[in-house]
Amino acid sequence: MPATLAGRSIIVTGAGRGIGAALARGLAAEGAHLLAADRDEAGARAVADGINADGGRAVPFAVDVVQRDQVRAMVAAAVSAFGRLDVIFNNAGIAQARPFLSITEEDWRQVTDVNALGCLIGMQEAARQMIAQGGGGKIVNTASIAGRRGSPNLAHYSASKFAVVSLTQSGAGALGRHGITVNAICPGIIATDMWTDIEQGHRETGLTSRDNEAFETAAARIALGRTATPQDLVGMACFLASSGSDYVNGQSLVVDGGLVMM
Ligand SMILES: NC(=O)c1ccc[n+]([C@@H]2O[C@H](COP(=O)([O-])OP(=O)(O)OC[C@H]3O[C@@H](n4cnc5c(N)ncnc54)[C@H](O)[C@@H]3O)[C@@H](O)[C@H]2O)c1
Repeated sequence: MPATLAGRSIIVTGAGRGIGAALARGLAAEGAHLLAADRDEAGARAVADGINADGGRAVPFAVDVVQRDQVRAMVAAAVSAFGRLDVIFNNAGIAQARPFLSITEEDWRQVTDVNALGCLIGMQEAARQMIAQGGGGKIVNTASIAGRRGSPNLAHYSASKFAVVSLTQSGAGALGRHGITVNAICPGIIATDMWTDIEQGHRETGLTSRDNEAFETAAARIALGRTATPQDLVGMACFLASSGSDYVNGQSLVVDGGLVMM
């Protein structure tokens, strides 16, 4: 069977580890050409090196997704390396657990800047390139089940992910006439380094009393009886990057093993 994404030029942000690294590898395995972008340059380089060593094609790129000039340079780097930009995965994100009454303005800005503003800038700069080159394109944002349901100890994170869902709908409405689709993936519970930060926030603020308590509590409600691995998201990512999803637009698709069912 031919590779479904052969020669497609794809950017993945937050590709230096966790979900983004798995998406980059999985998309490359389907023949895509990858710009692996992360503010952690060494992480992005390691992922790109691994893809190239496996016979794929990838270029690392250092970016802070909140800095528009850097995001613009990231898009230009993909075009320079692969000739055009077909798909962007706005996946970079940060999480922070706090008791609801303790969230500060600084906490709010820190989390919403990366997760929501970073997503908006990525969508805008990718769309400008897609419109300029013609032929449409695909934008895929990483939201979360926290973007589909409020979360008492992650209120500002959850709000930032609701913003991603909203930007996905608004972007789909605004960009559809250019042939650009905008969708989001809402992952469930995945044991990446992000959960180390979430657990730490719970412990430091007295929300939990032992290591891994928050993760285990959330995981216990998953219908499939196990948490996800980053690999569990690759099928949906490949679908949303492929022509098979050409008429899917404005959707935020939950991939969580049956935790938030709607
Ligand atoms: N792990 C989960 O359970 C889970 C669940 C739902 C949604 N998500 C979302 O999935 C995405 C990836 O999360 P993960 O679990 O792989 O986390 P992670 O912490 O393992 O990886 C996040 C990556 O994003 C990068 N990053 C952070 N801020 C950045 C910035 N300003 N510019 C560029 N890169 C930046 C980090 O360097 C890191 O490599 C995030 O958007 C997260 O909110 C994760």
